Amino acid sequence: MTDVIESLEIDRWSGPFSAELQHKALAALEAGRVVFCPRLAFAVKDEEAKLLSSDFATGKAKNISLDPAKGQVSGTAASSHEEHLRAMMERFARSSNQLVTDLFPGYLEGIELARTSYRPVEIVGRQSSPRKDDRLLHVDAFPSRPTRGRRILRVFSNINPTGKARIWHVGEPFEDFARKYVGAVRRPFPLEPSLLAALGITKGKRSAYDQIMLGLHDKGKLDPRYQKEAPQTEFGFPPDTTWLCFTDQVLHAAISGQFALEQTFHVDIAAMARPEQSPLRVLERITGQALV
Ligand code: SIN
Ligand code: FE
Repeated sequence: MTDVIESLEIDRWSGPFSAELQHKALAALEAGRVVFCPRLAFAVKDEEAKLLSSDFATGKAKNISLDPAKGQVSGTAASSHEEHLRAMMERFARSSNQLVTDLFPGYLEGIELARTSYRPVEIVGRQSSPRKDDRLLHVDAFPSRPTRGRRILRVFSNINPTGKARIWHVGEPFEDFARKYVGAVRRPFPLEPSLLAALGITKGKRSAYDQIMLGLHDKGKLDPRYQKEAPQTEFGFPPDTTWLCFTDQVLHAAISGQFALEQTFHVDIAAMARPEQSPLRVLERITGQALV
C-alpha cells in the first residue's frame, strides 16, 4: 500500500505496546496518515447480531450516536434494541479509549472522549446535499462544533457481517489542499462569532481557524473539478479491521460500505509530539496570522 496508510500489527485493544510500535503509530498519525490495524477486530456479541441486519438499517437509524457525558443513545427509533445498541457502543467507546491511551501515552493529559457513532446504513445511495456528502473528499469540520484548533481523532471498526469492505479515498497532504482554497475563504463579520454562539447555532465561539476549516471543507466538496482531479488513493478496509486518523487533517471520502463503528476524541495541540503538523499551525504559517 502507498504511504497514506501505515499498517500495524496490533491485535488487541489494550497495551502494553512496544515503544517502537508506539513511536511508529504516533509518527504516522501526526504526519496525516491513516493508522490501519488489519488484525484488530471489534467483537460483536451474539445478542447484538440483529443490529447488523438490513431490517435494522432503516433511514431512521442513519446516524446513531452516543454521548459519553449523558450515556444516551440518540437518532434511532429502534427503541426495542436500545439496550443492546447502548451496550455495543459503550464497549466500542471503552475499547477505543483503551487503545488510544495505551498507544499514545503522551496524549493522556490532553485528550477528551467525545461521541461514539454507529453507521448501519449503506453509504452508496445515501441522499444528501453536497456539503453533507461524505462521499466527497473533505477534512472534517462541523458548523455547530468549533474546535478552536483542537484535533479531531477518530477510530473506526468495520463490523460488516457479510464480508464487505468499507471503501475510502484518501487524498493529498493537508497543506497542499489548504493552499488551494485558503485565499478564497470568507472571513467572519466582526460580531458573527458572538452572535452565532449567543443564538446557540455554535457550541461556543467560532474562531478564525474554525471559519477557515469550514470554508476548506465546503470549497473542496463544492468543487467538482477538485473532486475529479485531486490526487487520491482508494483503500478498502475489510471487515474485522480497525483504523484511526486525524480526520481534520486527512483528506478522506467514504465511498461505500455498511455497518461501522466510530469513536471521536479531541486532542489538545500541546499534547502532540509535533504540533507544527496540526492544521492550526499549518494554516497560521500559510496566512501569517494567529487564528485562535
Ligand atoms: C467521514 O468521516 O467522512 C465518514 C467516514 C465513514 O463513515 O467511513
Ligand atoms: Fe469525514
